[in-house]
Amino acid sequence: MIGGRVLIFMHALIQKFHQAGQGQVFAFFDQLDETARAQLLAEAAEIDLAEVRRLTETLLGTHGASVDLTDLQPADYERLPEHGGETLAWAQAQAAGEAALRAGRVAAFTVAGGQGTRLGYDGPKGTFPVTPVKLKPLFQVFAEKLIAAGRRYGRPLHWFIMTSHQNHAATEAFFAEHGFFGMDPAQAHFFRQGRMPAVDFTGKILMESPGHIAMSPDGHGGSLRALDRSGALDLMAQEGIDILSYFQVDNPLVRCIDPAFIGWHVLRGSEMSSKMVPKSHAGEKVGHFCEQRGKLVVVEYSDLPKVMQEEADEAGHLRYLAGSIAIHLLDRDFIRRMARGADGAALGFHRADKKIPTIDASGAPVKPEKANGVKFEMFVFDALPFAKNPVVIETARCDDFSPVKNAEGSDSPQTCREDQLRQFARWARAAGAVMPTDSTGLPAVSFEVSPLFGDDTTSFVASWKMLSSPPVISEELYLSDRT
Ligand code: UD1
Repeated sequence: MIGGRVLIFMHALIQKFHQAGQGQVFAFFDQLDETARAQLLAEAAEIDLAEVRRLTETLLGTHGASVDLTDLQPADYERLPEHGGETLAWAQAQAAGEAALRAGRVAAFTVAGGQGTRLGYDGPKGTFPVTPVKLKPLFQVFAEKLIAAGRRYGRPLHWFIMTSHQNHAATEAFFAEHGFFGMDPAQAHFFRQGRMPAVDFTGKILMESPGHIAMSPDGHGGSLRALDRSGALDLMAQEGIDILSYFQVDNPLVRCIDPAFIGWHVLRGSEMSSKMVPKSHAGEKVGHFCEQRGKLVVVEYSDLPKVMQEEADEAGHLRYLAGSIAIHLLDRDFIRRMARGADGAALGFHRADKKIPTIDASGAPVKPEKANGVKFEMFVFDALPFAKNPVVIETARCDDFSPVKNAEGSDSPQTCREDQLRQFARWARAAGAVMPTDSTGLPAVSFEVSPLFGDDTTSFVASWKMLSSPPVISEELYLSDRT
């Protein structure tokens, strides 16, 4: 039985869609059973029709070429001491970051709502087995790094994980099945990101089936709204946490908690900070940190013309050198401001033309062979121009970035496995172990270090020294939790 209030809500919602010229969403409503009707109404209620109209007017007229490239300059960044940065400033940053961590001001945040289509892996990407010996999933690597940081600074860290509608239940179940990888379950918080409807090239909302709208995740930029809506920001406030350490689910090398980075952010009074690596080659598929009329912006590789990607200075160095590795720090109040669009501070949407499975006028499925519509996504780095005092720091690629994106070739499970092995070998050598490697630093043996044994050179060497008899690394070896 449908109650009177529900009926009024239903009619009002359907009418709103008709008035907005989106009546096709309910074309098959009468043929659906009660459960399917309720589902369709719930999907429709998620949609902000005014937003869809605005996006249709602003983004559909152009063919995606809406990125403003005028007055673009390479952005400045804080160089590592080995590349000319000030050693004292880095030491001060390290100390300030450690103090913030000891004061419990920082939480971790992973965006894990993407679909991992390029990797061709079926399941939430964070469940992908990534380490060289133990084949630990990405989520376990992050969990152990966070446990290690919690122990080091005497404050267990909260960890926020953004999922999508598609992978939320599977992600939660995976953590439960694996005992949260040793974390206190009360410290791990999962929430879904928002969704946006896909539209055809005239702005009509597409249906995936007679009872379902073609909805897709609203991009990692949707995380700002989702952090607000889910109550994560309120929890942070209650716990005295004002800084969020943001990283992507695809990068097991990331220093989830990096005191020097946090220190730069705190000492500069920054609302949003980012890490860069010098691009490996002109055409590397990363975002570029740029300055535009006094604001820090990221321009995607797909938007920066090839001539600019390749532009060099007199010494032959790439001008647009600073590659974004999607590691940021964000202040709680800044996230709230962006999420609520306060003072005109709001993320814009990008359009992506896609092949979107849909239905024809009779309700039969259509599998398009070329792009038939547009998905709308927000990017988190678009928040940078709104942030006060944003700072970009350099980081060593070998210690922070080796993502798993493609099934083969660059940024694949194999390149990532090798980069992990190289890192473990560097640490072992720093501790005085004999570790034969090839000319790229790749060891001949399979060797893995748990983040709970060591997660950087200093912590590794300290643990190694405490071993009563350091192992000879001649065959497969796994160094587990020292405690
Ligand atoms: C991204 C960045 C690029 C950066 C590179 C570094 C964009 C558009 N580009 O590229 O600037 O140099 O990483 O590795 O982001 N995600 C969600 N919800 C979504 C979409 C994505 O949570 O709706 C998450 C994914 O799970 C993943 C991350 O965001 O953790 C990155 O998404 P992806 O689409 O793979 O970005 P890239 O194109 O690889």
